[in-house]
Amino acid sequence: MSQHIFRGRWQEALVDIFWSSIVPATAFSVVAALVFLRLLTSSRAPSKNMGSGAVEMQFAFDERDQGFVTQKLEERQVVVSKLIVHPIKSCRGTSLAQADYNPSGLELDRRWSVIDANKHNILTARAFPKMVLIHPKIIEDPTDPSGGRLEIHFPPDSGCETFSVPLKPTASVLQQWSLVEDLTVHSFTSIDGYITQAYPTNADPTICSTILSRFFNRPVHLVYKGPRRRPAPPTHSFPQLEANVDYHDAFPLLFASEESFESVKNIVKKWCDEQENEDLRKWDASKMVIERYRPNVVLKGAGLPFAEDMWKELTISPAGASEVGGGKGFFTLVSKCTRCMLPNIDPADGSRNMSIPSKPLLKYRRGLDPGRMALSCFGCNGVPAQQGTLHVGDIVSVRTWDHV
Ligand SMILES: *[C@@H]1O[C@H](CO)[C@@H](O)[C@H](O)[C@H]1NC(C)=O
Repeated sequence: MSQHIFRGRWQEALVDIFWSSIVPATAFSVVAALVFLRLLTSSRAPSKNMGSGAVEMQFAFDERDQGFVTQKLEERQVVVSKLIVHPIKSCRGTSLAQADYNPSGLELDRRWSVIDANKHNILTARAFPKMVLIHPKIIEDPTDPSGGRLEIHFPPDSGCETFSVPLKPTASVLQQWSLVEDLTVHSFTSIDGYITQAYPTNADPTICSTILSRFFNRPVHLVYKGPRRRPAPPTHSFPQLEANVDYHDAFPLLFASEESFESVKNIVKKWCDEQENEDLRKWDASKMVIERYRPNVVLKGAGLPFAEDMWKELTISPAGASEVGGGKGFFTLVSKCTRCMLPNIDPADGSRNMSIPSKPLLKYRRGLDPGRMALSCFGCNGVPAQQGTLHVGDIVSVRTWDHV
């Protein structure tokens, strides 16, 4: 039997009041308080800088700032600030005002590599830091059947003379070059390449190998990527990833942002400040350049670091386009870029520090890539859906936000 049986009228009235007003009022107050708190936290203006000053220390993107960054994107403030191609793997990159691209990356990016003439392994700056001082210059010439030449310059103290190779060797040029198909790099095997000969064709065809061998102090060749498809490895978020690359480490494009790089510099400075060793404390992080990380597409304008870590699908449109985020210029970010030791090499002089910036990054930017939790991350690997042209100043819009 119900306990109501023992209640008097006044008790019932009290119970009625309780259920009809106090409970709803309390529930309403709790909900209102929660909503208020949520609004307070989500609309809080980011305390970090928005614009020209230094970005405050941040180790990862704070999801509560998504609204702030979305507004920057809607205001068309997030733009491509730099485009960089590295024609020869591990050698110096070149900034371009615009760059054609296709699903395998920016045109001319990592089209060439230096290989050991006997072992056929691709040489990288991880083992040969001075490679970053070899400077390939793109000299376009539309009247030339090869579209121009790649002019390869060496530091003056190397005793190596400049030579050129055809920029886009034609089928008939490639026919005369020998194709090797057993190249390796890291754990990748069976990569192909044509042993490159000099340009113009009446030059001594062997000078590429001779001059480069002098620089490396061992027999080497310059190779130009052959026709065999080289699939990009699957990622945690894209186990069925379908993309091909040339001599890239793994993925067609590397995106990074200036705000994130500012934060990386602050992370390095913080780590240096924490060291007992006085020399390490003096390491000047402010002199670091983003080129250490060898990005292809540098973005700017989100106003906060590491926003790109949260982006999965982007469109990039010319600044003059009336509507951004249209069907063209579609890119997928497939994973965060886990970093090796290569950024420890200073691109200005080829010197390498064994700890900086790799250790600071490992301390503060580790465990962000679900596929490789032990490694540090900076930048995101990208795959274009089609071919097109990117320009400095192009406008970025984000189709899908997600952890990749
Ligand atoms: C790295 O930099 C620190 C500080 O300048 C220096 O003490 C150390 O010798 C450097 N290490 C290498 C391997 O160059």
